[in-house]
Amino acid sequence: MAGVETDGATGAPAIVRAATTTDAPAIARVRIDAWRSTYRGMIPDAYLDGMSVDESESHWRRILQAAPGRFSVFVAVEGEAVVGFAAGHMLEPPKLGCDAELSAIYLRADRRRTGIGRRLAGTVAAAQRGHGATALLTWVIAGNRPARAFYEALGAELLVEQPFQWDGIDLVETGYGFRDLDRLVAACGGMAALH
Ligand SMILES: CC(C)(COP(=O)(O)OP(=O)(O)OC[C@H]1O[C@@H](n2cnc3c(N)ncnc32)[C@H](O)[C@@H]1OP(=O)(O)O)[C@@H](O)C(=O)NCCC(=O)NCCS
Repeated sequence: MAGVETDGATGAPAIVRAATTTDAPAIARVRIDAWRSTYRGMIPDAYLDGMSVDESESHWRRILQAAPGRFSVFVAVEGEAVVGFAAGHMLEPPKLGCDAELSAIYLRADRRRTGIGRRLAGTVAAAQRGHGATALLTWVIAGNRPARAFYEALGAELLVEQPFQWDGIDLVETGYGFRDLDRLVAACGGMAALH
C-alpha cells in the first residue's frame, strides 16, 4: 500500500530454515538491533552506536559462503522478514568438555518470548548433533539476565564465570553447557526440519 512501510512480516508463525548468503544483510540488521536493545548499559554506547551493518553483513556473508559441513546458521522468517537467527559450529579442540558451540542467537525485540528462540536453539543443537557433536557450549555476558534465564530454562549447566575483553572493553562472561543434546533438542520441542 502506498505510503505504508512494511517489514515483510505477514503475521504468520515464524518458519525456521537454513540461512543462505542472501540472508546476510537481514542477519546483520537483527544482530545489531539486538545488541543495541540488549546490551545498552552493559557495553558502552559508543561501541553500540558505532556498530556497522556493512561490516557485520560481510562477516556473515563469509560465514555463509564457507563450507556448511561443520557450521550451521538458521533464520526464523515471517513472510519475507528475518525476525531472528542462530548459529553454531564445532569446537576443535573442545572447550570445557563441549565439542560444539551455540555462537549466536538473536531475535528482533518484538518477537521475543514467543518460543522462536527455543526453536532456533533446538535446530542448531540438532544440526551440530548431526555433525557429531555431543555437548554444546554457549557464552553470555553475565549481566544479560533474560538470556541466562532462557539457557537455564532449556536445562543449561553453569560452567564458568570469568572476566574477558571485547574490543578493549572489560566484561564478565558466563559459560553454559548443554551436555545432553538429545535432552536439549527435546526441551526445544523436538527436531525441527533441517534444510
Ligand atoms: C535470548 C533469546 C534468544 C530467547 O529467545 P525467546 O524466543 O525470547 O525465548 P523463548 O520464548 O523461546 O523462551 C523459552 C523459555 O526461556 C525462558 N525465558 C526466555 N526469555 C526469558 C526472559 N526474558 N525472562 C525469563 N525467562 C525467559 C522461559 O522459561 C521461556 O519459556 P516460557 O516463555 O514458556 O516461560 C531472545 O530473547 C533474544 O534474542 N534476546 C536478545 C538477544 C540475546 O540476549 N541473545 C543471547 C545472547 S547470549
